[in-house]
Amino acid sequence: MVMNLFKVAIEIGYRHLDGALVYFNEHEVGQAIREKIADGTVKREDIFYCGKLWNTFHPPGLVRPALEKTLKTLQLDYVDLYIVEMPTAFKPGDTYYPKDENGKCIYHQTDLCATWEALEACKDAGLIKSLGVSNFNKRQLELILNKPGLKHKPVSNQVECHPYFTQPKLLEFCQQNNIVIVGYSPLGTSRDASWVNLKCPPLLEDELLASIAKKYNKTTAQVALRFNVQRGVVVIPKSFNPVRIKENFQIFDFSLSETEMKAIEGLNKNTRFVELLMWSDHPEYPFHDDY
Ligand code: A2P
Repeated sequence: MVMNLFKVAIEIGYRHLDGALVYFNEHEVGQAIREKIADGTVKREDIFYCGKLWNTFHPPGLVRPALEKTLKTLQLDYVDLYIVEMPTAFKPGDTYYPKDENGKCIYHQTDLCATWEALEACKDAGLIKSLGVSNFNKRQLELILNKPGLKHKPVSNQVECHPYFTQPKLLEFCQQNNIVIVGYSPLGTSRDASWVNLKCPPLLEDELLASIAKKYNKTTAQVALRFNVQRGVVVIPKSFNPVRIKENFQIFDFSLSETEMKAIEGLNKNTRFVELLMWSDHPEYPFHDDY
């Protein structure tokens, strides 16, 4: 059996586990959590599991069944955080990437407020502790925040965030509204040409990050992660390698000076690694706006 890297991560000290239906790993994550509870390493309440509502389950009647499917796969009673993975609805159903005869993705009319109300009901039913979103721009966040009769605010917005894409405006807006930014691709992605914008140079080869890393006897990855954590951005680095999973956790025994933080902020290129251009003609494609 392939080593369950989630168990390794929990042993190292990770508590926030970022999953999703369309990562096709909920079975493995759930098993790791249950085994680590069973062997006494953690209690359920120590773990913070984030699940995601996929684009084909936005219609209100599909929200709870999608969540229940996730809970069943995880074999858990609740998720700590459940987020709208993207603001872009696709044709509803179990085909996660619905395509027409020309191979083009079939979109669906998006009503983020209606989806949100269905999520609020799931929270009220005890299936979710907190609600959040992902890949939402300011306008889309405001749509939820200003929804008449809003019961539960989004607590977080998971977006790309790292020294080459620091999100200063969205971060400020979210901080003003008590929304935590959870930064995905905090190490600059795997640079897989099939979905990554490779015009942006490799983050982990950055000279400034390398020189700061040398000073602290850390790696560029650790400096990139520390930068975000120190400015209040949650990081969810991805690695399939136990040594690097451990390395990415060892960021709490040093801190960057104010000058270094400013210098790293100055690396911002305002270019995304994750542009999701294949969906850029969706009416709710989030990345046309400035932020
Ligand atoms: P691997 O799985 O072989 O460790 P991101 O979190 O920004 O999406 O980055 C994920 C990519 O970064 C993966 O390709 C992962 O490869 C690599 N990675 C993860 N941790 C480190 C690290 N500490 N140093 C270098 N590369 C890393």
